Amino acid sequence: NQAVGLVGWRGMVGSVLMQRMRDENDFSLFQPVFFSTSNAGGPAPRWADGAAALQDAYDIDALKKLPIIVTAQGGDYTTAVYPKLRAAGWDGLWIDAASTLRMKDDAIIVLDPVNRPVIDSALQRGVKNYIGGNCTVSCMLMGLAGLFNSHLVDWMTCMTYQAASGGGAQHMRELLTQFGEINGAVKSLLDDPASAILEIDRGVLLKQQDASLAHDQFGVPLGGSLIPWIDKDLGNGVSREEWKAEAETNKILGRGPAFGTQSTPVDGLCVRIGAMRCHSQALTIKLARDVPVDEVADIVREGSKWARVVANEREATMHELTPVAVTGTLDIPVGRLRKMSMGPEYLSAFTVGDQLLWGAAEPLRRMLRIILG
Ligand code: HSE
Repeated sequence: NQAVGLVGWRGMVGSVLMQRMRDENDFSLFQPVFFSTSNAGGPAPRWADGAAALQDAYDIDALKKLPIIVTAQGGDYTTAVYPKLRAAGWDGLWIDAASTLRMKDDAIIVLDPVNRPVIDSALQRGVKNYIGGNCTVSCMLMGLAGLFNSHLVDWMTCMTYQAASGGGAQHMRELLTQFGEINGAVKSLLDDPASAILEIDRGVLLKQQDASLAHDQFGVPLGGSLIPWIDKDLGNGVSREEWKAEAETNKILGRGPAFGTQSTPVDGLCVRIGAMRCHSQALTIKLARDVPVDEVADIVREGSKWARVVANEREATMHELTPVAVTGTLDIPVGRLRKMSMGPEYLSAFTVGDQLLWGAAEPLRRMLRIILG
C-alpha cells in the first residue's frame, strides 16, 4: 500500500474528512502517515491501528518522502510549506482544502461528480495539485451539475445564506455564545407571557449593540442579525467570496479563456447568516432556452447522484430544503424551481449543502480514491 501524508486531520474540516474516510473504508487503500503542526512525536489517532507517531508537519524532509499529501490544515500552512516542498524537489501529489493554490495554472479544482473529465485529463498531463473548491461553489455545482453540463446556463446570480462554519470552528462557537448572551439578556421578560414584545426587542437590540457581546471572530453580532460581506474586500465593490463564484465555477467546469471558450457569468451577493454548517443559495438562472420546469427537474435530478429535487410546495420546502434537514448528509436538495415573471427563460432555484461535506471534505477523499485507483 502507498503511503499518504495527512496534515490537519484534527481540525474541523480534517475531522469530518477522517470520519468520512473511515466510513468509506478508505484507510484500507493506503498507509496513513499522520503529521502535526503542534504535537510532533505524539501518538497517532487511536482509531488508526498501528500508525506511527505524529511527524512534524513543517519537516520538509519528512514530507518529501511521501508520494501523496492530503492537507486540511488551512491556507497559512499551505503558504508556508508548499513552496518549500516543491523547491526541495518534491514531485508528489498535493491534495488540499485551502484556497491558496486553487486558481493557479498548475492546479485543478476537484469536484469529480461534476468535472471528472477535467481531473482525468489533468492526471494524464501530469498535473500534481488537486484542490478542493470554495464551499458555496462546490455545493451549488453538486446541485446544478445537470444544468451546467447540459450547457443550459447562460448566466446565473447566486445570493447566498452562508453558515458560521465557513468562518471556522471558533465562529460557530461565537454564534452560539451570542445567541446565549442575547437570550440571557431578555430571559425574564421572555418567561413572562404578559411582557411586551417591543420591550423584549429593545432588550435584544441593547445586548446586540453592547460592546461586551462576544464578537472577536465575526467582528459584529451575527446572532439575530446577518453580515452581507464574506472574505476580503477586493476594492472594487466585490467581496472575494463573490469573486470566487464565477472564477471557480468556470475553472471547475473547464470553461473560460484559459480553455479557449467563453466563461459563464456567475455573480451575486454573499451573506453570512446564523446557520451552523449548511450554506444555502437563492439562484436566478438565465436559461439558454425555454425548458419546461419538469424537464429542468429531470435534468437536475440526473445531474449527480446527490442532487435531489424538492417539490416547489410549502410543506416539502419547509421540511426538506433547510440547513437543519441537510446537515450531516451528502444530499444536495434543489427546490423552489419555477419560472420567474421576467420570462420563460428565467428560472429560480434554492439549494442547500453541508459546507463541511461536499463543501470541503468529500471532494478531497474522492480525489485520493481516484489517485489510488
Ligand atoms: N469561504 C467560505 C465561507 C468558507 O466563509 O463560508 C468555505 O470555503
